Amino acid sequence: MHVITLLNEKGGVGKTTLATHIGAGLAVRGLRVIIIDADPQGHATVSLGMQRKPGLYDLLVRDASFSSVLQQVPEDNYCVPNQKVEGVLYVIPSNEETRAIPMMTSDGLIVLKRLSELENVVDVVLFDTSPTPSLLHASIYMATHSIIYPTECEYLSLDGLVQSLQHKDQLQPTRQQWGLNAIDIMGIVPMKYRESTVLHNRNLEMLRKQFGEKVWQPLGLRTVWGEASLIRRPVFHLAPQSKAANEVWKVVLRVEEAIT
Ligand SMILES: Nc1ncnc2c1ncn2[C@@H]1O[C@H](COP(=O)(O)OP(=O)(O)O)[C@@H](O)[C@H]1O
Ligand SMILES: [Mg+2]
Repeated sequence: MHVITLLNEKGGVGKTTLATHIGAGLAVRGLRVIIIDADPQGHATVSLGMQRKPGLYDLLVRDASFSSVLQQVPEDNYCVPNQKVEGVLYVIPSNEETRAIPMMTSDGLIVLKRLSELENVVDVVLFDTSPTPSLLHASIYMATHSIIYPTECEYLSLDGLVQSLQHKDQLQPTRQQWGLNAIDIMGIVPMKYRESTVLHNRNLEMLRKQFGEKVWQPLGLRTVWGEASLIRRPVFHLAPQSKAANEVWKVVLRVEEAIT
């Protein structure tokens, strides 16, 4: 089981978009996937057409069983039209109660401990996170193998990226204490990229200079993303032949390659 977390301490950069598309894409490809929505807004949950309750709070604070909080996402909500879904996709929803999780549990290893119940039951767990760091993030860090950082090629998103990377490093000594390896940076994914914008070009170049191969192919700024979000379906469901779908499949395949 591989645990991947989507992080950037800036909102609106594409964490939820990538969490839901990578999760749905890997399920289409044949993997058993759980998306854990850890943002009180619950946008990953509703993006897949699911209800916000019961949620992560029930799992971590009320000690609910996985079977009572896991919602299986109907294939029709995320499939590529006329293509069989080979795997399975579940969501653990989030709602405003998620905000209170850090106040209600003092066990920093709670996420890691609960996820150990899923070993050999699922292939991938994907965490969608909120931009504001919290003790829930710290607990998720303890359970994470790899991080994917979506970022826009603009100042505030890049600042959010830097802050997120610093927090990852700050938590490493705690991981070491518990005998956990360093978290792998799986990739930095430029989102809403405009080739014609000099600032975007410059910032992408700067990212590549600093992080080399870790910087993945950018996903262009395209209106179909907004349309897909409006009907709460992935872009490869709404517009399977679109450039956006093509670009996001490359991300899905790269994640698949990294974990299998
Ligand atoms: N490549 C893109 N082009 C245009 N809009 C995008 C693109 N990627 C994401 N979006 C839109 O940006 C908005 C914010 O994305 P979201 O994934 O919710 O960010 P976050 O979870 O980091 O706050 C959403 O409405 C989404 O549809
Ligand atoms: Mg989000």
